[in-house]
Amino acid sequence: MKSSAILARRQPQAAAQLEPRSKRRFSTQRKKVTGHPPPTPERLMQFAWGYAPPLILEAAVNWRIFDLLDKGPQTVGLLAAQSGASERGLTAILNALVGLEFLVRKGTRYALTPESAAFLVSTKPAYHGGFFRHMSRQLIPNWLQLREAVGTGRPVVAANDEADGQQFFAEFVEGLFPLSYQAAQVLGEHLGIPRAASPVSVLDIGAGSGVWGIALARQSPNVTIHAVDWPAVLKVTRSVAKRHGVGDRLRTAPGDLLEADFGAGHQVATIGHILHSEGRARSRQLLRKTFAALAPAGTVVISEFLPNDDRTGPPTPLIFAVNMLLHAAAGDTFTFAEISAWLREAGFKNPRLLEAPAPSPLILATRP
Ligand SMILES: C[S@@+](CC[C@H](N)C(=O)[O-])C[C@H]1O[C@@H](n2cnc3c(N)ncnc32)[C@H](O)[C@@H]1O
Repeated sequence: MKSSAILARRQPQAAAQLEPRSKRRFSTQRKKVTGHPPPTPERLMQFAWGYAPPLILEAAVNWRIFDLLDKGPQTVGLLAAQSGASERGLTAILNALVGLEFLVRKGTRYALTPESAAFLVSTKPAYHGGFFRHMSRQLIPNWLQLREAVGTGRPVVAANDEADGQQFFAEFVEGLFPLSYQAAQVLGEHLGIPRAASPVSVLDIGAGSGVWGIALARQSPNVTIHAVDWPAVLKVTRSVAKRHGVGDRLRTAPGDLLEADFGAGHQVATIGHILHSEGRARSRQLLRKTFAALAPAGTVVISEFLPNDDRTGPPTPLIFAVNMLLHAAAGDTFTFAEISAWLREAGFKNPRLLEAPAPSPLILATRP
């Protein structure tokens, strides 16, 4: 499928994400009946409470509610006894989670939905609960200073500087692993990694948990990983790689991305969620350095939150740009057109999109 078609297909989906399913059905029906109804403050008031769902989810993850319900439906009394939380507190969040469609209640017993069973139980491979801990403990405190950041144009935390960033990232990158694992598997299939007959060296830039390199290494014993990140984060990368049985095929190169040793002759280079904290100037330098580290016919892969070319949507990449205002001096989100131009400027050919289960499609380009 063409890159423009891949992006267009994503837009309505992402715009709908901010409303619960029941709400979306209601809005659509009403429009059909009345044509252009007068505006109401309903959506505005829904957003006024927008901070509540992630915090309710985080509280439930923290008290292991989804893990306990994975054993089967339970009453609030049983959940309180097993978790150590109060019945009053649990009743409030359990009912809210029913309203938000993350749980169902049958009589006095609460149960998981297919969605919470897949993504909020900590033993499941697609567990997303770690992200809510990061959001409540690391992101929301900084978002409370948004008003000031808009005034000064300066971030609250400079996450791409080693002084602020190393500890900030070391604390949460492991929680990001399940968010990109499936997309990394799709990438591996697309690149033919499971059928690789010769060595494949993967340069994982800003490796974090190591998800991109590890997923590819698990698809073939011919894959070796060269992971670059700050030293404290590389400790996490090494422990995750070991747990996935690929620790012996991981080499690490500590340091700032523009100074660390990238090595040379790699077949694949992954840049997962890095450009948004690097900003325009450093991203362009990083792509040039990546080009030099790849072998001819090597592929660079970029995972990012991509707004459309007019920057009118989808909402998530535009909201993420505000997150980057708060978390990096030159942070922002960039369009496919912008990133493609930087790739071409660095010498890459054929920037293209690959549909994958990620916030946006992946961008691929080839070193001639
Ligand atoms: C958002 S995380 C992404 C991790 C992983 N690539 C993924 O997609 O899940 C960004 C990673 O880049 C690293 N990083 C960010 N800026 C860096 C810099 N200037 N030098 C070295 N590492 C950096 C962070 O430590 C962190 O591990």
